[in-house]
Amino acid sequence: MVTYIDADQAVQKNTGQIRLYGAEAFEGMRKACQLTARCLDELAALTKPGVTTNEIDRFVFEFGMDHGALPATLNYRGYTKSTCTSINHVVCHGIPNEKPLREGDVVNIDVTYVLDGWHGDSSRMYPVGEIKRSAERLLEITHECLMLGIAAVKPGARTGAIGEAIQTFAEGERCSVVRDFCGHGVGRLFHDAPNILHYGRANEGPEIREGMIFTIEPMINLGRPHVKVLSDGWTAVTRDRSLSAQYEHTVGVTADGCEIFTLSPGGLDKPGLPK
Ligand code: MF3
Ligand code: CO
Ligand code: CO
Repeated sequence: MVTYIDADQAVQKNTGQIRLYGAEAFEGMRKACQLTARCLDELAALTKPGVTTNEIDRFVFEFGMDHGALPATLNYRGYTKSTCTSINHVVCHGIPNEKPLREGDVVNIDVTYVLDGWHGDSSRMYPVGEIKRSAERLLEITHECLMLGIAAVKPGARTGAIGEAIQTFAEGERCSVVRDFCGHGVGRLFHDAPNILHYGRANEGPEIREGMIFTIEPMINLGRPHVKVLSDGWTAVTRDRSLSAQYEHTVGVTADGCEIFTLSPGGLDKPGLPK
C-alpha cells in the first residue's frame, strides 16, 4: 500500500512514502532546476570534437561553485565526478575521463545541482559535430518519448500512464526501452519514492497527486533493451552495443498537469537538433 506525506513533516530519508510538496518547495526546485538547465545550455558550445569528458566535468563543477551549488553526484555512493557522460552505446552513468570526444559521437550529459538543499536533475543528448541520420533519429525519438511521458502527468492518473506513453511510442518506432533504470522522486533527496518506470500500463503504479516532484528520464535503444554494467561498477552499456539515448527533466505536479522545472532558458532542450 502506497502512502503520501506532507513533505514538511517527513524525515529526510527514503521511507517509500511519496512526498507532496507545497509552494515553497516548488520555488526552491525551480531555482535549482533552472541552474542545472543553464549549465546544460552552456555545455552545448563546449561539447565539440576534441574536448574530453573530464573537461566537461570540470566545467560542471566550476559552474556549480560559481553559483553556490554542489553537484549531487560528487561522492554519491562512491561516485567521484560532478556529472555523468554517456557516449554512444553507454546507456547511463558513464564516468568522465581523459578521452576526447570524436566527430559523430552522441553524448548524454547528466547534471544534478543541489542549491539551498533542493536537487535539480536533468540531462540532454549532445551531438558531437556531424552525426549519422540514424543517431539523429534516435535522439528525436527519445526526446519525444520524454515529452509524451510528461504529457501523461496529471493528478488522478497513475505513474504507469507515463511508462505506457513512452513504451508505446518507442516500440512503435522499432526502438526499445531500457528496464534497468527509472525516473525517481526528487527534492530534498536525490533519489526518492516513487520509481517512475518508462514502460508498463496506465493502470499500474501509484496515483499521481498534486505536489509530487519527480524525474522522467527514458533510456531508449536502437537495438535490444538489455544492458550490462562494466567492471568500474557504474558504466551501463547496451549488451548488443547498439546506440542508446536519454533525456531527463524534473517536473512538479500541478492541479491540471505538471510544471517542467528543467526547461532550457535558451531554447536548447534538444541541442544540435532542429527546434
Ligand atoms: N543523475 C542521475 C539520475 O538521473 C544519477 C546519477 S548517480 C551517479 O538519476 F552516481 F551515477 F552519478
Ligand atoms: Co534522475
Ligand atoms: Co540525472
